[in-house]
Amino acid sequence: MRDLQGKKVVVVGGTSGIGLATAIEAADLGAEVWAVGRSAENIEKAKSVAGEGIHFAQLDVHNLEDFDQLFKDTGKFDHLVSAATGADRTMKPFMEQTAEQFSEAFNKFWGYTNVVRQGVPHIKPHGSITLVSGTPARKCNAGMSSVSCVGNAVEGLGRALALELAPIRVNVVAPGVISTGMFDWMGEKKDEILEGMTKQIPLGRAGQPWEVANAILFFMTTSYATGTCVDVDGGQLLP
Ligand SMILES: NC(=O)c1ccc[n+]([C@@H]2O[C@H](COP(=O)([O-])OP(=O)(O)OC[C@H]3O[C@@H](n4cnc5c(N)ncnc54)[C@H](OP(=O)(O)O)[C@@H]3O)[C@@H](O)[C@H]2O)c1
Repeated sequence: MRDLQGKKVVVVGGTSGIGLATAIEAADLGAEVWAVGRSAENIEKAKSVAGEGIHFAQLDVHNLEDFDQLFKDTGKFDHLVSAATGADRTMKPFMEQTAEQFSEAFNKFWGYTNVVRQGVPHIKPHGSITLVSGTPARKCNAGMSSVSCVGNAVEGLGRALALELAPIRVNVVAPGVISTGMFDWMGEKKDEILEGMTKQIPLGRAGQPWEVANAILFFMTTSYATGTCVDVDGGQLLP
C-alpha cells in the first residue's frame, strides 16, 4: 500500500530535482517530510513549489555538525533518502584528469556515508534508507570514469549496509539522464542537449524527477525489498 500517513521522511538533497520530487510525493502520501539542502536559494525556490507537510532545513552533507540540529528537529524517523549531488565532477578521460579532479567526484560518496552514519541512530527499526547512484555505474561512456566509480561505490555501499543494518532496509535507485538542476549549467540549450543525449535510448527522451521519485517511494513502501537496485533510465542500460 502506498501510504505514508504517520511516517516521517528525511530527504537529503531534497531542495531540487529528484530529491525535491521525492519530498513532494512523500508529503502527498501523508508523510511529514524534512527536505534538506545546502543553499538558501534552492530552499526558497523549493518552498515556492512544495505544498503542505514539508519542513525545509539548510545542511551541508560535509559538515557533521549540521546534522545535530536536523535530527533534534525530526526526532526518530522512518525513511532516509540520500540524493545530494555533493561534489563537482570532471568529465574527461581518466588519463587527462589530475588525481584531485578524480577524487573530487568521491565527495558525493563521502557525503552519502555522512548521511548514513549520522542518520542511522535516529531511524526506527523497520525504517529504510534509499541511496541514489546513476546509470554510468554500469554503463559508462568514455570520459565518465569518476562518475562511474562513484556510482559503483554507492551501489556497493547499499548492498553492504543492507546486511549490516537489517531490519532497516537499504536500497539504491539508479537514474539515467533526468532533467534536473544538475544540468542547469547548460543554460538555454539544456532541453536540446538532453534531447541529443537521449535520442538513441529506447524511450528516446530524458526522464523527469518525479519518475525517479516514484522508484524511491517504491522502496519506502515495499517492506520486503532490501539490498537491491532499481534502474530508472528509459532503457539506457540495454545494449
Ligand atoms: N539528473 C541526472 O541525470 C542524474 C543521473 C544520475 C544520477 N543522478 C544523481 O541523482 C542525485 C540527485 O541529483 P539531481 O539530478 O536531482 O540534482 P539537483 O537537481 O542538482 O539536486 C541536487 C540536490 O542536492 C543538494 N546538494 C548538493 N550538494 C549538497 C551538499 N554538499 N549538502 C547538502 N545538499 C547538497 C542540492 O541543493 P544545494 O545545491 O542547494 O545544496 C539539491 O537539493 C545526485 O546524487 C545525482 O548524482 C542524477
